[in-house]
Amino acid sequence: MDYNIPLFDLNYDEQEEKAVVDVLQSKWISTGPRSSELEDMFCDYFNVGHAVSLTNCTVALHLAMEVLNIQKGNEVICPSLTFVATANAIKYVGAIPVFADVKGEDDLTIDPEQIRKLITENTKAIIVMHYAGFSCEMDEILAIAEEHNLKVIEDACHGPLSEYKGKKLGTIGDVGCFSFFSNKNLSTGEGGMLLTNNPDLAEKAKLLRSHGMTTMSYNRAKGHSTSYDVVALGYNYRMDDIRASLGIVQLKKLRADLEKRKKVRFAYERELKSVKNITVPFKNHPYFSSNYIFPVILTKEVEKNRDEIRNLLHKSGIQTSIHYPPVHLFDIYYDEKDEGLSKTESVYNRLITLPMYGNLSEEQVEYICKKLKEYAV
Ligand SMILES: Cc1ncc(COP(=O)(O)O)c(C=O)c1O
Repeated sequence: MDYNIPLFDLNYDEQEEKAVVDVLQSKWISTGPRSSELEDMFCDYFNVGHAVSLTNCTVALHLAMEVLNIQKGNEVICPSLTFVATANAIKYVGAIPVFADVKGEDDLTIDPEQIRKLITENTKAIIVMHYAGFSCEMDEILAIAEEHNLKVIEDACHGPLSEYKGKKLGTIGDVGCFSFFSNKNLSTGEGGMLLTNNPDLAEKAKLLRSHGMTTMSYNRAKGHSTSYDVVALGYNYRMDDIRASLGIVQLKKLRADLEKRKKVRFAYERELKSVKNITVPFKNHPYFSSNYIFPVILTKEVEKNRDEIRNLLHKSGIQTSIHYPPVHLFDIYYDEKDEGLSKTESVYNRLITLPMYGNLSEEQVEYICKKLKEYAV
């Protein structure tokens, strides 16, 4: 079914087309100058020391685990209200995800108090996820990490150029990870970026993204070297220059797009201000957000109608989603530690994600809210 109002819409135009054609005509289509240019732009836009372009965010999270030396049997605390990749990365290295609850229905990020309660002698790291582009309580989380000698990884997939106290999300912990999947704020189809201020971690990530080889094909093609050694067990996690060229155009557009999304959010907040059965999380969030998605939460009175409300919206041509089915409820995660996730489960049962993208018009927001008010009574 084609929706009149999809959940997300790409903001591509002739600039992306030209960028790709330029790369094709250059005849260098795998990792090369465009990937380096995108990395340099990230360092500049995000005010961070090092950026490593990658195939996607899932592998960025995996490399984060590897470069931070997270190993078999280590415990890593993370939210359950996230995309499954956040937790999968922990399992890739044989470590154990330990799920922490969210703060509440006004703030769907990981609760620092819950993190504190879950720490054991095996805990080695915390992965936070800046839900919808709204920052986690980073000061408290960094203080806990320092107290217990833990690493902090930011899954910042939802929050490119979002901020916390003047710093860009993804540059606050030890490592930050971004996704450029097609529905993300910055879209290249597939793609990802690892950010860090630690030069050793960046060097290790660069080595591991390309089979642990000491030189890249592009260096050899340009005559900068003629051979290579393999010094670590690495992977092929490289981004190609076709996608990097899309990323360059997308990053240049990002600030303006986020301003448009801010207006869309204001329009939603205005329309939903006094609707009895619907609350809007992050209403008074003090820091700049990318507004990657727009979630609303039904009150308990109408919770049982959530799926029916979504069906009716779909029939009205409006696509919705749920961000996210909690990871601890998935079959393969059933045995993991997951005590005390009552807020996550309660919020999940009442969540609906409404369409959000920069070009969503005020009229469309009014239409979505009109339908939502009709169905959620
Ligand atoms: C919070 C979060 N983490 C990780 C990922 C994985 O990103 P990718 O699809 O680039 O591997 C996503 C993407 O959907 C995400 O939203």
